[in-house]
This record gives sequence, C-alpha cells and structure tokens, in this order.
Amino acid sequence: KKIQLKDYRPFAFIVDHVDLIFDIREDHTRVTSKLKMRKDPAWADETTPLVLNKGKFDIISVVAGDMVLLPGEYKSDDETFTLAATPDVFELEIANILKPDENTALEGLYRSGSILCTQCEAQGFRNITPYSDRPDVMAPFSCTIVADKTRYPILLSNGNPVKSGDLDDNRHFAVWEDPFKKPCYLFALVAGDLAVLEDRFTTSSGRDVALKIYSEKENIALCSHAMTSLKQAMAWDEKRFGREYDLDLYQIVAINDFNAGAMENKGLNIFNAKYVLADPQTATDDDFMGIQGVIAHEYFHNWTGNRITLKNWFQLSLKEGLTVFRDQEFSSDMNSRPVKRIIDVKNLMAAQFPEDSGPMTHPVRPDSYIKMDNFYTMTVYEKGAEVIRMIYQLLGQDLFRQGMDLYFEKFDGMAVTLEDFVGVMETVSGRNLDQFFLWYTQSGTPEISMTRQYNDNTGSLSLTFTQSTSPDRNQSEKKPFHIPVRISLINRAGETVKQEALYELTQETHTFKFENVSADIYPSVFREFTAPVRLSTDFSDQDLAFLMARDTDPFNQWRAAQTLFINEIKNLVTAIRTGRAMTVSSGLIQAFSLALEDRKKDRAFLSKALALPLETEIKDHFEIIDVEAIHQARTFLKQTLAKNLESELKTVYEICRPAPPDDISGAAMADRSLKNLCLAYLGCVPDKGNQALVLKQFENAGNMTDEFAAFKILSHMTPEMRDSACQAFYNKWQARTLVIDKWFSVQAQSRLKDTLDQVKQLTTHKNFTMANPNKVRALIFAFAMNNPIHFHRADGQGYEFVAERILALDKINHQTAARLCACFNLWKRYDENRRILMKRQLETMAGQKTLSKNLYEIVSRALE
Ligand code: ARG
Ligand code: ZN
Repeated sequence: KKIQLKDYRPFAFIVDHVDLIFDIREDHTRVTSKLKMRKDPAWADETTPLVLNKGKFDIISVVAGDMVLLPGEYKSDDETFTLAATPDVFELEIANILKPDENTALEGLYRSGSILCTQCEAQGFRNITPYSDRPDVMAPFSCTIVADKTRYPILLSNGNPVKSGDLDDNRHFAVWEDPFKKPCYLFALVAGDLAVLEDRFTTSSGRDVALKIYSEKENIALCSHAMTSLKQAMAWDEKRFGREYDLDLYQIVAINDFNAGAMENKGLNIFNAKYVLADPQTATDDDFMGIQGVIAHEYFHNWTGNRITLKNWFQLSLKEGLTVFRDQEFSSDMNSRPVKRIIDVKNLMAAQFPEDSGPMTHPVRPDSYIKMDNFYTMTVYEKGAEVIRMIYQLLGQDLFRQGMDLYFEKFDGMAVTLEDFVGVMETVSGRNLDQFFLWYTQSGTPEISMTRQYNDNTGSLSLTFTQSTSPDRNQSEKKPFHIPVRISLINRAGETVKQEALYELTQETHTFKFENVSADIYPSVFREFTAPVRLSTDFSDQDLAFLMARDTDPFNQWRAAQTLFINEIKNLVTAIRTGRAMTVSSGLIQAFSLALEDRKKDRAFLSKALALPLETEIKDHFEIIDVEAIHQARTFLKQTLAKNLESELKTVYEICRPAPPDDISGAAMADRSLKNLCLAYLGCVPDKGNQALVLKQFENAGNMTDEFAAFKILSHMTPEMRDSACQAFYNKWQARTLVIDKWFSVQAQSRLKDTLDQVKQLTTHKNFTMANPNKVRALIFAFAMNNPIHFHRADGQGYEFVAERILALDKINHQTAARLCACFNLWKRYDENRRILMKRQLETMAGQKTLSKNLYEIVSRALE
C-alpha cells in the first residue's frame, strides 16, 4: 500500500501519442483512448506485460492493432488494466463509460454546476481512462470533444484548437492538439456555457499570444484583475528568468467546485473561482493579492513543472517549491517586498512549523506515501520555497540565474529530480551542495540559538550559533544542516556599522568574531529570514524594543515586535496559571506607541508589525498548549494595548481613511490595512463609542476590505451585534457565493460562546453544502483550524462535531476530508483531558469500516 522512493522503476513502455475522444451525453460520457506505444528495450523484454493504472469504471471495448479483444484477453479491475503480452510496437484503443455527475471526489472528469471539467494531478487521470498515470511518462496528446451545442457551446482542452464543426442532433465537436509532450496529470478538458474575457500579449521574441479567461456568464466582469495579473506575470518571467510563453493561446477557466487553489494544465489552467473573480465591492485586498499570486504561480509552472516535469511524485517540491519561490519573488516585485516576506514567513511559522513537529512531519522530498494527495503540504510547497531561497542566497542573484538558465537548457522536455536541480546549481557555482541537500531529505525544523559575548579588552563581539534538530519518525538522529545566515551590525543610533554579509553554519556550533566594535552594538541576524529555522537569542525585551524600532531590516523589525508580543503573552500565561494578576509591561506599551507614531514607517509594514500573533501561532511556543490561557492572555494584551493607546489608535485610524474605496494601489491597500488594524484594537474593548465606530464603518464601507474588517470585529462583540451584522451582510450578498463563503467563515471564527451551535446550525443553511470544498473550508475548516477556544472546548463537543463532519465528507470527497483531519494532528500537545478526547475521535475514525486511503493515512499516522 505504501509507495516508496527507493522502489522507483521506469515504465517499461514508451507512449508515442495519445488521442482522446470524449463523447459527452446527458447522463454519461464515453471516453475512447487511442494509444501508440512501444516497448522500451532498456526495461522490457518479450515477457513484459503492459500494466496501466485504472479507476473504478467499466470498459466497453478494447482493440489492439486490428484485433478486438474479448474480456478474457485483457484483465481489468478497479485499479489496473493489464495485457499479458504485447508486440514491440502497437496501437491500443480502449473505450469506457464515465459518470461525471456522480463524481463528488472532484478528481478525474466531474461536473461543477453546468460545467464539465477535469482535475488530474496527482493521480486523477486514471479515473478518466486506463493509462500509465505517472509524471515520467510523457507524450503528445490530441483531444476531440463532442457535445450538445446548447448545453456545452464551449469545448476546451490543452494546446491549440485545430478543428471544430457541427454535427447532427444539435451536437458539435472540437479537436485540440498539444504539440508539447506532457505527463497525463497536465491533461485538461472543459465543456460548458461560458463567457470569455479576451486579451493579448506579445512575447519578447514577437509571439502574439491570445489570452482567454472563462467564467460563468454572470461573473465575467469580475475577471479583469486576473487578466492584469496574467500579463504582469508573463512580462515578469521574461525579464527575471528569460522565460517566454510557448503556445499561441493561454486559457484560464474559473470553477466553483475545486479541491485546491488552481491547476497548471498545459495551456488550460483550471482555477478555483476564488482565485480569479474579484472587484473591490466583493473581494478584499488580500483576495486581490491572492489572485495575483496564484495566477502567476500557475503561469510560472509552464516552465517549472510543465516543460520540465517530475521523474516521480517524491520530487513534487522540484516544481512546487521552485514555483512558489518564483511567485513570491513576483509578488515582492509587484508590491512591497518586506511586507510580502513577512506574510510568507508568518504563514510558514503558523502552519509549516507545526506540521513539521507533528505526525505528518516529512522531508521536503518525502520517502513514502500512501496517497500522494496528502503530500501537497506546507512542507513541500512553503518550506520547499525556502530551500530554493537559501540556494539563491548562497549563490547570489547572478549565479542563481545562470543555474536556472542551465536547468532550462539541460532538462527541457524531460522528467527530472531534485538532484538534477541542485546539480546545475553546483555546476555554475563550483560549490559542493551535498550537505545542503539534507534540506530535502531530513525532516524537522532546526532550532538555532544565538548568544553574544563581548570582550571589553579587545573590543570584539563574538556571536555563537548552535543548531539542533529533534529526532522524529523519519530520522532518529539528525545531521547538522548547511544554514546560511545574513548578519549585519547596528549601533545605538540605528546606523549600519558593518555591512550585511552572508555567513554559513555547517556544524553544530559556529562562532563568528567581529573586531573593533563598541559594546553597544546590536547584531541583526537571519536578516530577511535567511533560513527556515526556529531562532532563540539572548536579546532582552529592551534589546527587542530597540530592534523593533531601529533594525535596518524590516523583517527583523517585525520579528522583534512579534518576539516581544510572544514573550509578553508567555508571561501572562504564567500569571494565569499561577493565579497572579495579569499586567502588561510598560516597555511593551511604549514600544508599541512609538511604532504607531512613527510617521516615516510604511503603513502596510506597520499593520503587520503591530498585529498580535494569532493564537494558532502562539501555541507553537508552548510545549503543552493551554488553549484557554493563551486565549485569555492574548485578549488581555490586546485590550490593554487598546485602552492605553486609544487616542493614538483613533488618530491613526483617521489619518488612514482618505483612500477612494475602489483604489487598489499599494498605498491605498496599505492605508486600509493599518486603519483596519487600529479598528480591530479599538473594537476589542467593550466600549459604546468604539462599537459605534465599527458599526459606522460596517454600514458605510465602500469596499469589501473595509466592510469585512468591520464585520469580523462585530462578530466577536455580542450575540445581538453579531446577529444583526450577519443578517445585514447576508441580505446584501446572498446572491454572491464567494462573499457568502466569507459570511460562513466569520461566523465559524467568532469568539462568542454559542459559536459551536451556530456552526452546527449553519451546516443546514440553504447556502451551505458539504459537496463544495469552498463552503467546507469557509465553515468547517475555519472552525476547526482557526477557532481554537471553540474547537478545543473542554467538553469535547468541538472535536465530536468536526470528526463527524470529516467522516461525512470522506464518503464524498476523500482529498478534502483528509486535509480537514489535520486539525487533530497535534493532539499529543494538549492537556490530558483534551488529549484523551481528541484521541477518542481519531480512534473512532480509525475504526470505520470504509475509510478512504487518504483519510486512513492521516488518521493512522496521527495514532502511531
Ligand atoms: N499543482 C497545483 C498547484 O500547486 C496543485 C494541485 C493540487 N493537487 C492535489 N492533489 N492536492 O498549482
Ligand atoms: Zn503549484
């Protein structure tokens, strides 16, 4: 059942061509696949059988060469299709029947509303037709689609449209040809009654590319931001990486029912509508940024993923880590670089660090899996991007670019490995990256401690770094990682006294000595988060307050602020647990107020630096997670800051207001983010004046960013205020499904007492359905992952509710059910009562007779 990297064998056949025919009918689709194949002499002999992957569907005919095969002449079950013997070169034609309307798993061919579409990555293509469903089997595809003209006027697949026309019975057809060899996970088909937004892009070598974004007709006006983002991404990839688009047509389709964010199918990206549709009335600034990032991500896959693909799924980070790095760089160039860095690192710490410390911990290149879908993780994506970023640091911008150029040159059209990637980086730099490669094979987050020793006599400052990584299920002993560290020295006036330079840690302990510096020098280390490590330092809270104000790296300013908050919350938690009175240190209040009044600071940056870490981030700093104490401590800190700084917060709130509501420039977004941070502070104290301020913004907001920010604050105030805000918001937006997702998620995350009952109620709401992943994410995921006090209710009812939903979901959508189950992963880190309650739910799930492989893998790892 377990697939292991060490068992990799190439496929014994070569596929020279795939020709697919989809005959779409009212209640079924008939698929015919014509394969031109031959034996690979390196791996096959006379006795080698042809074994293809296959899903649960019925085969209706098989033709090999000119021979019609009888059912006894081939073998077919729910997982494989086998021919005991084949000639060296042959053609095989297989026809089978699919029921896309019954496909609730949303992989393979399925229906979303009135649209038929596909999702094949990782192993969904086998649910469409028997095939060698693995990324290293590459072939040119052609695809013919035949369907009713009224229901499916638009028929799309990969590559170029080569032929189309009318048929009898109000039917029509379209033929598509993709000239590029590709693995089947990049195959796509869309059929439906869609509207299209068209544009053009001329590549630097003069290719005129037609750009088409398709959506349901009523949403087509919401596609222009996605189109702008696409053109930005195309221009950026030419400039930064010398990569041009390679077909005459680039298509994107927005789909309402989608398990992931989007999919990079060659020439035909399929997107979760959430990452396409936006206007300022219905989408927040974060949504706009998300769309820009995901559109770019899928576009960048055309080179990192499609032209050069994976030898096997263990190498997933070769395309995902690299493509995330590329989209992060793109977003940094389009918007504020420091703010983008903060957002990405915050995300990594909040979600990847915990993943790496729990039962799902795996190296960036996993060694084994039961279901590959379970390894589309924060580790493969986000930590994978950090690993690429470290190579970029170690080599520098120019050598890294040379390495990328060589990678494209050497491996174009091939299916390769992480060794191949790191190999080109070694070639261009002349460096040995063997130890560095441990980042791909060793799991866990290294812990680094940094201590300072100042020698008064010699005037030298020594910085000692020590690294250690806890053993885990993957390796009982960890070797030291090769860790880059960017360091600079700063004096009391906030001036750089030693220019930033890159240092490298390769052993357990390293000391770096800086001569001729004065005693009051501050080191600024791991600037821009040079490496994905946990860092502890000997900085006092005074030191941190200084660095928060004066570090010359904005990322480190942010980190200093967050560390101060975490330290304060830790003290408050201790006070709660020992029955002492809670107090907030005056130093923290002062540091906060200084930052708030610093008019030179970028407002988007400030809105990040002054935001308290989330409870889900704070928990990572405790061995045993005390949900209630963390919640109480954070709330107390937030309210104390708000009470002490009320007039400053109001002043900043007013200063940030003037931007026109539909202005989505960086400056306008920055103003809104700081303004709404101030409002969130003001709104957390039960004060009539502040409540009125929030309500006023909610009622008069000219865009979704402001409306949603106020809505969230109201949802925590009182049941009456929440209910009337929910009512108003619902009445206004009930026809807009993406906005209703926000409505569900706000209610799921409310801190008010009756939240679990509300959430249960909402599962029966007419706008809610377990069949739509966005709805499940908005309500159930939001509750389970982002509402710790209610999910972790001491009576276990939160657990019971979510476990019951997971099992219900597993019956219809195993990928998303398994993802949801991650909310139980850290069960061993809670108090005994919760530990027992969470374990009980995991055991109940494990005891089910019909558990999907996906969910089985997550549950069994958690209980191991
Ligand atoms: N390759 C897609 C992307 O990152 C995601 C595919 C998700 N597939 C899955 N089985 N979870 O752009
Ligand atoms: Zn991707």
